[in-house]
Amino acid sequence: MPSTVLVGTQWGDEGKGKITDLIASDFDYVVRFQGGNNAGHTVIHGDTKLALHLMPSGVMYENAVPVIGNGVVIDPGVLVKEMALLEAEGISCERLKISCDAHVIMPYHKVLDGAEEKRLGNNQIGTTKRGIGPCYQDKIARKGIRVQDLLDEKIFRLKLETALQQKNAVLQKIYGLQTYTVEEICDEYLPYARILKPYMAETAHMLNSALSQGKNVLFEGAQGTLLDIDHGTYPYVTSSSCTSGGACTGAGVGPVAVDRVLGISKAYVTRVGGGPFPTELKFAEDGGSGQDAIDGALLCEAGHEFGVTTGRKRRCGWFDSVIARYAAEVNGLTDIAMTKLDVLSAFDTVKVCVAYECDGERYDYFPMQQSVLFHAKPVYEELPGWKGCDITGCKTYDELPANTRAYIEHLEDITGVPITIVSVGADRDQTIMRGWE
Ligand code: GDP
Ligand code: IMO
Ligand code: MG
Repeated sequence: MPSTVLVGTQWGDEGKGKITDLIASDFDYVVRFQGGNNAGHTVIHGDTKLALHLMPSGVMYENAVPVIGNGVVIDPGVLVKEMALLEAEGISCERLKISCDAHVIMPYHKVLDGAEEKRLGNNQIGTTKRGIGPCYQDKIARKGIRVQDLLDEKIFRLKLETALQQKNAVLQKIYGLQTYTVEEICDEYLPYARILKPYMAETAHMLNSALSQGKNVLFEGAQGTLLDIDHGTYPYVTSSSCTSGGACTGAGVGPVAVDRVLGISKAYVTRVGGGPFPTELKFAEDGGSGQDAIDGALLCEAGHEFGVTTGRKRRCGWFDSVIARYAAEVNGLTDIAMTKLDVLSAFDTVKVCVAYECDGERYDYFPMQQSVLFHAKPVYEELPGWKGCDITGCKTYDELPANTRAYIEHLEDITGVPITIVSVGADRDQTIMRGWE
């Protein structure tokens, strides 16, 4: 099994957790390379649904070493809790390795995330308020506190003191909020440091040594292509590089280490938070009406589309091949895993967006200007559905109804990427392998 980068091709929640867990048994290392606990990756363990926020979804397998790479931002309290939760489920976290270069989410990052959203009012991004943006801001501004700083109390106190001089002024003078003392943060964070110390490692060197010995590495992306800081629907994005290139900087390996790029796509599209979404089927409560509002509500209900991290209702829409083709390009996708096909069994016909129209112009490619995306009207093809056929028990491709197969093959044609994994339910065994080996 060659080394593989797995990425979301839409706005997140495509089922990355399920597919990572499914294929992780073939890998020696599973690495998170960006994002933080804004992610919510669902994996099924026996009868339990587990939501992983920081732990790589390969943690279920004894053979795979889970790694939190340098590109991740870590809330140590969340990580310690998640580890305890997994251990209580009988899942060992003993093998976990945490990069010393990863940045640490501090209490003021979380408060500033919420305060900034409040300030933006109607223009807010709809962040997860986990402190992700403010932590990456400090990283880029070269003011961040890293995991390795937790190893030395003296250094940690010194960096914290410097950081608080600025943060407290901002908290108090700009937002009228409470300030922090070095002591209260140390009281909370130093015990975390003691718990996490045994897991800290030189992960880039470890991964490169493993690769040179022929070991296989799976890089597990969080969020999705359209939430990428460079390639997403800026500013309605997250603050990290969620596309495949992020795996190299976020784990410390060169591009030649990557053999395959597996894009995870839902058979339709969802989005949490603000920002443009051309194929959105607006819910009635968001101002939608007619058949669109009915179809949107049906997708949400049939797909149980509620956020794993924040519990928010996800906006829903038809499959968008314009963004799929874009994701194929900016990630260099070699394969697609298509998830949640079973959800479309609720519809008589299914629509696929093939292009956008805006001000009389047709866009087959992702538009250069975001304003076009805001006003884009999707051009749809309508395909016959497979309503009433329960496909959740199908084990082979040939068992799928002819219209389901036609839908898959049509999406392959218009995105130009082979769909080598098809998912028809949340469980590991509700998956059809179609060329992925
Ligand atoms: P991630 O963030 O990309 O890992 O995705 P989430 O875990 O946030 O959301 C995906 C949801 O869909 C989870 O509740 C999964 O258990 C569920 N899921 C994954 N694949 C399938 C599928 O093929 N069919 C159905 N019905 N649910 C799925
Ligand atoms: P997984 O890994 C879906 C969205 C937020 C918001 C924007 C910025 O489960 O697919 P942030 O807190 O990152 O600053 O918020 O990004 N967002 C996600 N949406 N799935 C995710 O992760 C997300 N992580 C962040 O809703 O719109
Ligand atoms: Mg998720």
